[in-house]
Amino acid sequence: MTSTKQPASRRGSERRPERRGSGYSTSSFQSRRQSIDPSRLIPMDKTTHVGGTDDFNVVFIGAGNIMFGSDEGPWNHSFRFEHKLGLRLKVVALIDPAIERATAVLQKKCDSFVVSAYQATRVFKTLDDFVKNMSPKDRPRAIVVGSPPMFRGTLQSGRDIEMQILKHFPGVAIFLEKPIATGPKTELYEAFHIAKAISDSKAICSVGYMLRYLKAVQKMKQIIEENELVVMATIARYACAYESIAKPDWWDKSKSAGPVIEQGTHFCDLSRYFGGEVDIASVTAHSLDWDENAGHLSRMRVDESKIAPENRIPRVTAASWKYDSGAVGSFTHTATLQGHNYSCELEIHADGYSLKLINPYVQPILYVRKPGDDHEQMYTFPDDDPFFSEVSNWIDVIEDIEEDPEAAQILSSYEDACRTYELTWAIREASERSRASRLAARETTVFEEEEAEAEAEA
Ligand SMILES: NC(=O)c1ccc[n+]([C@@H]2O[C@H](COP(=O)([O-])OP(=O)(O)OC[C@H]3O[C@@H](n4cnc5c(N)ncnc54)[C@H](O)[C@@H]3O)[C@@H](O)[C@H]2O)c1
Repeated sequence: MTSTKQPASRRGSERRPERRGSGYSTSSFQSRRQSIDPSRLIPMDKTTHVGGTDDFNVVFIGAGNIMFGSDEGPWNHSFRFEHKLGLRLKVVALIDPAIERATAVLQKKCDSFVVSAYQATRVFKTLDDFVKNMSPKDRPRAIVVGSPPMFRGTLQSGRDIEMQILKHFPGVAIFLEKPIATGPKTELYEAFHIAKAISDSKAICSVGYMLRYLKAVQKMKQIIEENELVVMATIARYACAYESIAKPDWWDKSKSAGPVIEQGTHFCDLSRYFGGEVDIASVTAHSLDWDENAGHLSRMRVDESKIAPENRIPRVTAASWKYDSGAVGSFTHTATLQGHNYSCELEIHADGYSLKLINPYVQPILYVRKPGDDHEQMYTFPDDDPFFSEVSNWIDVIEDIEEDPEAAQILSSYEDACRTYELTWAIREASERSRASRLAARETTVFEEEEAEAEAEA
């Protein structure tokens, strides 16, 4: 990331895309370190950019918040690409069916000092339209997908952007936002099919689980690796500020797949990053739902009466599971906080150690307790920008700029992200099973009481 070395392609050596990224089979991917020395995670303003003048063509799919920013959070991929690639960045196409929105964000860019990246950008409703109108000089080197997950992660027409990319641009690098999909659970196998197709294609693919790139998270990995620790438990808690969530779709399980799949996914993913593979059959969960006494929310900004009762989201979901290693994982998602900031924490426990990550979204703090000291040591990570680090690492892998193969790393492959998706679905299903059996038991009790009353009256 900080290298001033020339990309291998510009050094004249042969490109070896199979060297890194999602070209690995699952087993070889997992056997790699899958971590980055935290000292290599440099914020945007302190990094040295790769030199060179050749254009780096990028296609953006989706002109929404993740791509161009919003006041909801620090995400804004275009901003990080501009900083990473500087004058080399050429956004050859912006694909979004909402043409007006796409045109408006482009106009803003063209009115600013980053105009060189966007002055030739063309807007298309679909990838097909772009392919039909593409001149050879517009061929992308990388494609960034930030469309809503309901339009991705399957093999079905209109929801198969990954397969379309592989068909039209074989071998071109792909970055996809999390979660990889939000369709029905029955479609999960389609996502794994896509994972295999991506892996077989050797495309360098990264999925946007950016919390893996936090310095604090990499510090935790470092402590685990250096001390050869075996993780015994992961305890994750994700409390969102529901008052600030005004998108009606988010509150509707038929649209977003629910808060664990759409949002808690980040912490389920981090849990897996530390705990390893989950025994999916072991997942149990309970939920607190909208129609229960404790489930009332006083400051919702959407009109929930417009959402079908069966699609309303739980206020609390609490899950636990076993990892293949024998370790135990637990995760609680709550939609209980008001205001703006979320409150999220992840604890990792191992023999003699606890690593506690607090507030990863806003200002990460890591508390570490080690053998020989009952007090926790506190670490802070000012100026950290995991959104930049994930983009920076992906581009460095594409450009193959480092001679040290461990230097730039993709920490989330498509297949790995499928497994996180599978875990979040397992949590949702387990909580729904638990709710269904509670409701059935309640109905039986009411029925029995009514029968008893009728008998008494007879
Ligand atoms: N990593 C993070 O912290 C983070 C933060 C925000 C969003 N995200 C993810 O980014 C993705 C997009 O979220 P967002 O907040 O930008 O949503 P958004 O609603 O703001 O924007 C989505 C855009 O995609 C467009 N779109 C719809 N269908 C499309 C299609 N078939 N092809 C291309 N574009 C299409 C919409 O018109 C819209 O402009 C989601 O998966 C979300 O979870 C991740």
